[in-house]
Amino acid sequence: MTERLIIFDTTLRDGEQSPGASMTREEKLRIAKQLERLRVDVIEAGFPAASNGDFEAVRAIANTIKDSTVAGLCRANDRDISRGVEALKGAKAWRVHTFIATSPLHMEKKLRMTPEQVLEQARLAVRFARNNCEDVEFSPEDGSRSEVAFLCRVLEAVIKEGARTINIADTVGYAVPQQFGEFIRTLRERIPNSDKAVWSVHCHNDLGMAVANSLAGVMIGGARQVECTVNGLGERAGNTSLEEVVMAVRTRRDFFGLETRIDTAQIVPASRLVSQITGFVVQPNKAIVGANAFAHASGIHQDGVLKARQTYEIMQAEDVGWTTNKIVLGKLSGRNAFRQRLKELGIELESEEALNAAFQKFKDLADKKAEIFDEDLNALVSDEAVTAATERWRLVHMSQASGMGEQPHATVVLGEGGVERKAESRGDGPVDATFKAIESIARSGADLLLYSVNAVTQGTESQGEVTVRLARGGRIVNGVGADTDIVVASAKAYVNALNKLASEVERVNPQLQTTP
Ligand code: KIV
Ligand code: ZN
Repeated sequence: MTERLIIFDTTLRDGEQSPGASMTREEKLRIAKQLERLRVDVIEAGFPAASNGDFEAVRAIANTIKDSTVAGLCRANDRDISRGVEALKGAKAWRVHTFIATSPLHMEKKLRMTPEQVLEQARLAVRFARNNCEDVEFSPEDGSRSEVAFLCRVLEAVIKEGARTINIADTVGYAVPQQFGEFIRTLRERIPNSDKAVWSVHCHNDLGMAVANSLAGVMIGGARQVECTVNGLGERAGNTSLEEVVMAVRTRRDFFGLETRIDTAQIVPASRLVSQITGFVVQPNKAIVGANAFAHASGIHQDGVLKARQTYEIMQAEDVGWTTNKIVLGKLSGRNAFRQRLKELGIELESEEALNAAFQKFKDLADKKAEIFDEDLNALVSDEAVTAATERWRLVHMSQASGMGEQPHATVVLGEGGVERKAESRGDGPVDATFKAIESIARSGADLLLYSVNAVTQGTESQGEVTVRLARGGRIVNGVGADTDIVVASAKAYVNALNKLASEVERVNPQLQTTP
């Protein structure tokens, strides 16, 4: 009999900790619904104590999701855990995930606590969590750099207090596969009550080994839960990539002897959605979800694939959802068809007005572009949410002129409250001129860290999707914008980033706190 591997997705928590990846409540809800369609076992919806916004997002997800357990991250203290319980308790199935650092370095330098204090704090936190929640997970942060003997004491104690899942974190991506797998096996062998918990792995990708380490934790260490994110999104080099773990286990069932509950046909739609919302573009050669992952460019490979698919293909593109790139709507599609398709994509607009505005945008787009794909609809709705939110700046109008041998020139009108402001500027290119015109109105003083353009679908009539990353005073935000005109998409993305800079509240990063 094949055993189950639990897939715990932390795109909305660890993924969101990635600088610039922060999402609104509505965006998180859209991703959570897609994760539910993907059939992940656990959705880590956020860190409720980070801010009121994070609390509300976790609560909204908990109240909506029915087919996955909803988890919230809490530091090992009563206040965080109470906040987590408050946000999660409306869910059909929910989990408190509490953590504290256990490596000598983190305990001494970050927490400034003795090992005995950390042990006691972990024990009390799990006891408190278990008094308020059935399903409690405990993570030793920087677990992979912790001393085995001390970790055994902590984990034995928290299992005794009722922790059901023990998640060994390779917080800084320091582990190597064989060693990490053996480390987990040693812990399980030495801890007398280890069989009372499900063992889990949580690996970061700093050395590019997060997936390998996770799978070693499974095969050598006996872990039966993997924590991961869509597209491997996450701080620094990211987390274990969900799609890679799931497809490795499925494609090499002969080796792993495990199965997941995942509906793999939802992988590519999930990847697209996360990329569209966060502005973190997927590299073309990324396994499973990269644009080239199933493209057979070389003549020899094409010949082989035409004769017998398996010669060069170990998975089928359809199995991970690549075929979803099909025409879904066109110029003649009506409002009901539009609403229905949005519903199928898990998008529920808040009001009839929002639906009318989105439908108008859809009609405008269908005038410019005969075939409308799911990706277009997602981009359109993201764009609508971006412009509809209560924001400081609104792009009212823009135009630009450029040509060979001429210096590009742009005119921009931005709305701020009831006032419209106009500016003109020259620049090195049409985008540069547009950004300079916007800046001369907004005067944000932000630094442009990244500008990237991607086609939403194929062909020259495709919408361009632009990401603009701005930094000011240590804060980093990503703005996204989509349009068939890439200069307009660029202006939308820049204005979106300015609005995020203007509106984002200070949030607590769970792992950067000195006190638990
Ligand atoms: O990387 C890490 O240590 C974490 C824990 C909070 C699980 O994200
Ligand atoms: Zn992490």
